[in-house]
Amino acid sequence: MTARLEQLPRDRTRLLDNLGWIRRNVGPVTPGLSDALADHMNIRRGEVAEVLSFYSYLRLPVDVVRVCTGPVCDCAGARAVLDATPGAVEVPCLGHCDLAPVTMRGDEVEGAGIHRTNHGPSIDLFGEDELREAADLQPDVIVAELEASGLVGYGGAGFPTARKWATVRSFPGPRVVVVNADEGEPGTIKDRYVMELRPNLLAEGIEIALRFAEADEGYVYLREEYGTARERVREALDRRGLPVTIVTGAGSYVCGEESAMLESMEGRRGMPRLRPPFPAEVGFLGRPTLINNVETLAHVPAILHRGGAAWPRVRLWSVSGAVAKPGCYEAPVDVTARQLIDDFAGGATDEIGAVVPGGAASGVIPPAALDAPLTREGLAPWGAGPGSAGLQVFPASYPVLRLLRETMRFFAEESCQKCTPCRIGTRALEHVLHELEHDRPAMPGWQLEEWLVAMEQGSICGLGQGAPVPLRGAMKHWPELFTALLAK
Ligand SMILES: Cc1cc2nc3c(=O)[nH]c(=O)nc-3n(C[C@H](O)[C@H](O)[C@H](O)COP(=O)(O)O)c2cc1C
Ligand code: SF4
Repeated sequence: MTARLEQLPRDRTRLLDNLGWIRRNVGPVTPGLSDALADHMNIRRGEVAEVLSFYSYLRLPVDVVRVCTGPVCDCAGARAVLDATPGAVEVPCLGHCDLAPVTMRGDEVEGAGIHRTNHGPSIDLFGEDELREAADLQPDVIVAELEASGLVGYGGAGFPTARKWATVRSFPGPRVVVVNADEGEPGTIKDRYVMELRPNLLAEGIEIALRFAEADEGYVYLREEYGTARERVREALDRRGLPVTIVTGAGSYVCGEESAMLESMEGRRGMPRLRPPFPAEVGFLGRPTLINNVETLAHVPAILHRGGAAWPRVRLWSVSGAVAKPGCYEAPVDVTARQLIDDFAGGATDEIGAVVPGGAASGVIPPAALDAPLTREGLAPWGAGPGSAGLQVFPASYPVLRLLRETMRFFAEESCQKCTPCRIGTRALEHVLHELEHDRPAMPGWQLEEWLVAMEQGSICGLGQGAPVPLRGAMKHWPELFTALLAK
């Protein structure tokens, strides 16, 4: 075995990839293999064991059947699939909500829905041949065009892209470009569509970002489940000769948080960093780092080609759940849920009970909100936001309390455990929701409020800060579900 490990790189930044290589080529990473790798890489054995224990996939056999029990899959009968599949393991998200309920064996995806390539995104506003050589534009012109376009980050936080790019350039090099392709938010599948169906757009966006940042290296942090996307992005990068390394994740949602991602890339547990400093100043290995979501970068070539002011403000919406044609659709940023459901996704297949507009932490809205524009401003009165544009439609037959509890369970399981409000609060709220499902109030309303505030204000990263959002919204829209709790 030691001889096989000899071929692996010794740089600490390759630790996660090395562990993934062992899992794929030798088997689940046992304590013995972990120690052998530590010795080979000249890292303390305890440190490698610590990293190993953080990532849920590294100890799973490659060919084990994984059953997704995210909310859309849960609603589509994932529990029954799990019960009927001996030896299968439950995972919180497989990134294929359009095929719910979804299972994976190795890289093979199986789903009960329509085949995914039948209704891909309509990123067809231009053909790729028309693109002028945007990569040669001067940095100040690029920032001005991005500013004029109004592009904001599509990874969930919505930070203005022009401002981020200008900030990264304001710090001295060497600089690094990192693409966030972790896409772990249940209900969000758009980056997979971009990478599988339009990998050249992403590669072009990366090329522009590398030249803009005068970076001589880039990274794509790509979730493990996206095998096809990985191959196509690799080909597209190679065709352009770009110095970009693909880092493969290992089943941790919080590694999509940008500073946790940097920790993971540096060979540590994926725990978010305290900020400031922000990655634009102190990022990968301490260097100024431009981090963008896949979709954000994929829009950059079109913006520079057309000119920012002429760019129609669009984004990709992942639509799943109780609709006739779940999938990924390009639509204006201010589209409504009703338009997405009726005009793009073939209409609802059931009476609608609740809609999650933009991914797990974006909130949950009632049918009365179907005509609200899915923008920050349009959703604010409904206690929600557009997040990463992962619209999930739930039928009236799926209990809202179950949706909330499943969502909270997801946050509890994916919490990195670094800070107390998130570590304990997500579990406490999962328990409260479980009890409410059985008509048992677990704590008085004032105490629940204290938990929510502690999490919102005391958590280090967006996971703990955002976990209360769906619950708060639901308490407003469906107060009857919480009367027992609030009266106490
Ligand atoms: C818990 C958590 C998970 C996240 N997961 C992702 C993700 O999977 N993909 C992504 O692009 N951004 C994710 N983000 C947002 C990133 O931290 C960051 O804002 C984004 O990558 C920046 O790129 P953008 O400005 O192009 O959106 C996540 C944030 C949090 C708090
Ligand atoms: S909020 Fe949760 S996920 Fe984020 S750092 Fe704290 S414990 Fe980790």
